[in-house]
Amino acid sequence: MKDGKLVPLCGVSDVAPGCAVRAENAGCSYAVFNIEGRIYVTQDECTHGPGSLSEGYVLDDEVECPFHQGRFHVPTGRATCAPATEPLKMWSAQVVDGNVCIDPAEHE
Ligand code: FES
Repeated sequence: MKDGKLVPLCGVSDVAPGCAVRAENAGCSYAVFNIEGRIYVTQDECTHGPGSLSEGYVLDDEVECPFHQGRFHVPTGRATCAPATEPLKMWSAQVVDGNVCIDPAEHE
């Protein structure tokens, strides 16, 4: 991870295990996932189309897009089920003072 500026996306307690929330920062949308107590941050928009992955169905460590039911492996961002084929961008999540933080510059 770069030594850039960390920005808070949401409270870590806002994301229950097995769930995701949508977070915005500087015009970008992120999906914050809690997979068995581990926090992961991906782009919110599906790589296949306009589906919002934070509104998807989380099953174990995968999320199913609500739009065409493509699937992604949340810890790696890898697409695991068609029609999704392109991986998700991931940001390294850090918990600081109870907030999930990322460095947005990781993907600039
Ligand atoms: S928009 Fe997500 S699978 Fe098509």
